[in-house]
Amino acid sequence: MTGLKKIKTAVFISGRGSNLNNLIKFSKTKKSPIIIDLVISSKKAFGLKYANQHKIKNKIINFKKNKIAEKNCLTILNKRNIKFICLAGFMKILSNDFIKKFKGKIINIHPSYLPKYKGLNTSVRALQNNEKFSGCTVHYVAAKLDSGKIILQKKVKITKNETVSSLDKKIIKEEHKLYRAAVLKIFN
Ligand code: GRF
Repeated sequence: MTGLKKIKTAVFISGRGSNLNNLIKFSKTKKSPIIIDLVISSKKAFGLKYANQHKIKNKIINFKKNKIAEKNCLTILNKRNIKFICLAGFMKILSNDFIKKFKGKIINIHPSYLPKYKGLNTSVRALQNNEKFSGCTVHYVAAKLDSGKIILQKKVKITKNETVSSLDKKIIKEEHKLYRAAVLKIFN
């Protein structure tokens, strides 16, 4: 795909940004249907360095007041003509109103095999419950947390001596592959 035809995409982050980095790298490949045009962060996050490295427009938006924050997001999203949003470790919950404005155009990655373990500390809970596997899921964002239609998911085996950190490492590796595959699935 040529740069001109690619879908203008924003990535929303709050932290480390490894999924952002992965999406940026992917977006620069020929087969990517998306181009990352904007990064929005809910705070001064480590992941912003990837946006800066690649000279991608980025903005920190304070989400203490959700309504104002979303209004500010919409202004910049519209100004830049953004058509698609990827949440990647974004720790704020978007309102139904906001989601409706980008209906079917916001996706998220979650570190569990949904519908199991919605919310936070997914690996801790999976290990506490002696699960045989966890995983990761890319899904559409719906008003209810981690409950939108599933696009793709991948199981990750939990081994005998698994720790939260070893499991998280295995999952994040799969997340990076899954996020690319999900974007390709949506647009191809
Ligand atoms: C990932 O595990 C993602 O599934 C979850 O938050 C984490 C973000 O990691 N929503 P990173 O900031 O992309 O490295």
